[in-house]
Amino acid sequence: MKQPFNYLRTGVLGLLMAATGVQAQNKVTLRTDAAAPTINRNIYGHFAEHLGNCIYGGFYVGDTSHIPNTNGVRNDIIAALRKLKVPNLRWPGGCFADTYHWKDGVGPKDKRPTLVNTWWGGVTEDNSFGTHDFLNLCEELGAEPYLAGNVGSGTVQELADWVQYVNFPGKSPMSDLRQANGRKDPWKVKFWGVGNEAWGCGGNMKPEYYSDIYRKYATFMSGPLFKIASGANSSDYNWTEVLMKNIPTNMVNGLALHHYSVIEWNHKGDAVNFTEEQYFQTMTSACFMDTLIRKHSAIMDKYDREKKVALVVDEWGGWYDVQPGTNPGFLFQQNTMRDAMIAGVTLNIFNNHADRVRMANLAQAINVLQAVILTKGDQIILTPTYHVMEMYNVHQDATQIPLEIQSNDYTSGKGKLPAVTASASKDKAGLTHISLVNIDPKKAQEITVSTQDAYKSVSGRILSSKMQDHNSFTQPDLVKPQAFSGAAIKDKTLTVKLPPCSVVVLELK
Ligand code: AHR
Repeated sequence: MKQPFNYLRTGVLGLLMAATGVQAQNKVTLRTDAAAPTINRNIYGHFAEHLGNCIYGGFYVGDTSHIPNTNGVRNDIIAALRKLKVPNLRWPGGCFADTYHWKDGVGPKDKRPTLVNTWWGGVTEDNSFGTHDFLNLCEELGAEPYLAGNVGSGTVQELADWVQYVNFPGKSPMSDLRQANGRKDPWKVKFWGVGNEAWGCGGNMKPEYYSDIYRKYATFMSGPLFKIASGANSSDYNWTEVLMKNIPTNMVNGLALHHYSVIEWNHKGDAVNFTEEQYFQTMTSACFMDTLIRKHSAIMDKYDREKKVALVVDEWGGWYDVQPGTNPGFLFQQNTMRDAMIAGVTLNIFNNHADRVRMANLAQAINVLQAVILTKGDQIILTPTYHVMEMYNVHQDATQIPLEIQSNDYTSGKGKLPAVTASASKDKAGLTHISLVNIDPKKAQEITVSTQDAYKSVSGRILSSKMQDHNSFTQPDLVKPQAFSGAAIKDKTLTVKLPPCSVVVLELK
């Protein structure tokens, strides 16, 4: 059996060393002898909602734009996202999904009705980016689409029709309509969300009621689909308990979970001008993902010992006050090294829980919340989060290497957190990758990694800068990965020196 990911703290030895003013040594032990799951590439998924400038101006500029595009989608965005190896993309929301009627977004664009985007800024949505645009974009990216169905204000028939429209190969009213709209072959969409945040913007339902609603909708969604139930809001463990109790495991493939790294919902703080105390609070919320996954997984284990149902963290990331001067409903925020730390810590947690967490979606891809890309007219910049997602893509579909870790503390006036987190995997070509994060913004950390295999060489890349540092349209490359020379390997012992506030991904041969 796989050894549980073990977070050993420095304990008595640590206390003793702290008392004598000596920093304990960080230690990581790679357990290549233990059976381990594959790190599903879908953990590295993204999310694109009709919110602010994520779709319009972000992905989509229309095919008459002066910005180079493919069927209206920006070529610079397609190129940047291909480098990330985006495995799946969730659309059209979010809260927007439960107001969205897919039939309004197919057929001639000049005939499409409009709707008011009530959740996000009250702007008029012209439905010019619809099902065909999204699914063709996914084909361009080589990403699997993940469609979020409208349960809150839609009907069972509407969602069943959407499934038939995009997936049915034979003759049917919906496949005829698809062909009339210019697409002969179905797209074969596998991932389907049955509503979004049913406990909130998706209908303010109780878990007992939503369980029944889920069962009804899922019954009429035909085909071999991967159906994802709307899951818990962060630590609402009762939601998971009730759904797992009431929905048979042969009716559901994934249970969602949403958790944002936020300081306080009423005092989220500025995305760039934050204090170390706020940084620590954000890190506390990011590290809490580990507790959330353990607790939700323990509940799921009671009803699904074989782990047939995946935990799908289909919204995660940092959430701050919107950038001053921007539409408060557009959720536009800058992205700093603090966000790179959230990404590194969270992806390590997901990798280490790959047995249950088999899909996740960073919120959101472009211009919204913890975006990987920001746009301004015809320019784009890649954020620190983009670089972490790109550095970590070596873990996609690799075999997890379970590890034990003993970390020094990062202490602040608000408490303490482990300074160092890690995850590791072995890819199909036999290369071992280790990703290490030091969230301490002031202290470097030396780490000894013990391995059971002997390696001859180590190389790697690092993303490191001051915690408030970010890329901007005047300094687009202030934060970017560099070659890393702070690691040395001798037989089965690797030593690494991580600078403050850094993410490192190493390759061992
Ligand atoms: O990602 C922004 C919003 O956060 C989503 O629309 C919603 O699902 C969540 O509350």
